Amino acid sequence: MAQNRKRPKINTIGVMTGGGDCPGLNAVVRAVTKTAINKYDMTVVGILDGFLGLIEKHVRELRYADVSNILTEGGTILGTSNKANPSKYPMRLNGKTCMRDVRENCARYAQEMGIDAIVAIGGDGTMSGAAGLAQMNMVFMGVPKTIDNDLVGTDITFGFNTAVVTATDALDKVHSTASSHHRVMVVEVMGRYAGWIALHAGVASGSDVILIPEIPYHLDLVCDFVKQRSRRGKRFSIITVAEGAKEKGGKMIIKKTIKDSPDPIRLGGIAHKIAYEIEQKTKLECRAVVLGHIQRGGAPSPFDRTLATSFGHYAVEQLMLGKRNRLVVRRRGELATVPLTQVANNHPLIQAGKAVGTIFGA
Ligand code: F6P
Repeated sequence: MAQNRKRPKINTIGVMTGGGDCPGLNAVVRAVTKTAINKYDMTVVGILDGFLGLIEKHVRELRYADVSNILTEGGTILGTSNKANPSKYPMRLNGKTCMRDVRENCARYAQEMGIDAIVAIGGDGTMSGAAGLAQMNMVFMGVPKTIDNDLVGTDITFGFNTAVVTATDALDKVHSTASSHHRVMVVEVMGRYAGWIALHAGVASGSDVILIPEIPYHLDLVCDFVKQRSRRGKRFSIITVAEGAKEKGGKMIIKKTIKDSPDPIRLGGIAHKIAYEIEQKTKLECRAVVLGHIQRGGAPSPFDRTLATSFGHYAVEQLMLGKRNRLVVRRRGELATVPLTQVANNHPLIQAGKAVGTIFGA
């Protein structure tokens, strides 16, 4: 099976997925494993449930057969966690929970397992965790994932395209009810503090209003716009709203706070708020639809499959070239790496949206 029997400096490579799941994770795991086995005859170790696998010692060898037929599968065969941070891991001591730095334990365990380098697939939380472990002489290559597309340093993350396809499909479907019932449909999409999913799915679906965190909106302006449309005979409107959107002078809506997560804030609820307010002010019938985690599920789009495969392959190649503790990125169509720790307003798509009559509420 091995095409190049030259003894690599990395004999055993670890692979892990951290943070929220996202379409394309398995495609990267497959690409890393197959490249490592086929091209370099390495042993591949899957670290289970993100950094938890290193902390609680849960790993398993990945053989060729383990990663066959997973290219199109959503989720991650390795499991993930967005709570385990090796620099601040909650432990019970004398009946109390206290935060401990368990990075040394992780480094020792990786050494015991013979792991020479780890491909860490994740978002900013995972990359900062990896950067912390790199200080303990562990070797990482990061691969950027998130449906939010909000990682600094790369033009695109895998998972984003699939989320946009899912959100656009939902917006297209909501159109039927909006036009049949003459309603204002407010559709909330994910994206955390970034409006990329809303902007792309909003423009792709021809939404009448797109509200994103980068442009705080004026409610009156949105209400006047949907009323005017109604008067002109367009008796429905579609509003795409990012979960992080906020009114000018207002705050993002926090759905819940997860104490032991590196990023404890969970946003959500803006669609219901806006639908209620527009209905009160315009007397037009409004409904809210929250897409939620369906944007993170299912098979990755063909675009994400190819992006994930090229990221995974490139990560192994960069390690073999001697690159250490860097993040694989794609910039202007080219793959490159940036330091692990290096982890948007008048975008041309905003201009295009405006040119076709969409308003941004400001
Ligand atoms: O970062 C991906 C993401 O889906 C965000 O868009 C969303 O705000 C968040 O994760 C939801 O997190 P959880 O799965 O913990 O509810």
